[in-house]
Amino acid sequence: MIVCVCNNVSDRKIRRAVDDGLSTMLELRTELEVGTCCGKCHSCAKAVLRECLEDARASAAFMPQGALAA
Ligand code: FES
Repeated sequence: MIVCVCNNVSDRKIRRAVDDGLSTMLELRTELEVGTCCGKCHSCAKAVLRECLEDARASAAFMPQGALAA
């Protein structure tokens, strides 16, 4: 799904950015330029970001101890 039409940013692109460590709207604006044109995508992008962060936290909670240490 395209979240930001002006800058062609999809929910998958946002998810990938969160997987790479981004966690704020400011970072999304800086890295992907989400919401930097008309701004109509801001609330949708924020909702997608929140969902991605919740999924990332849930995944981390189920990781076996030491899985990230390698
Ligand atoms: S739709 Fe994202 S800035 Fe216009």
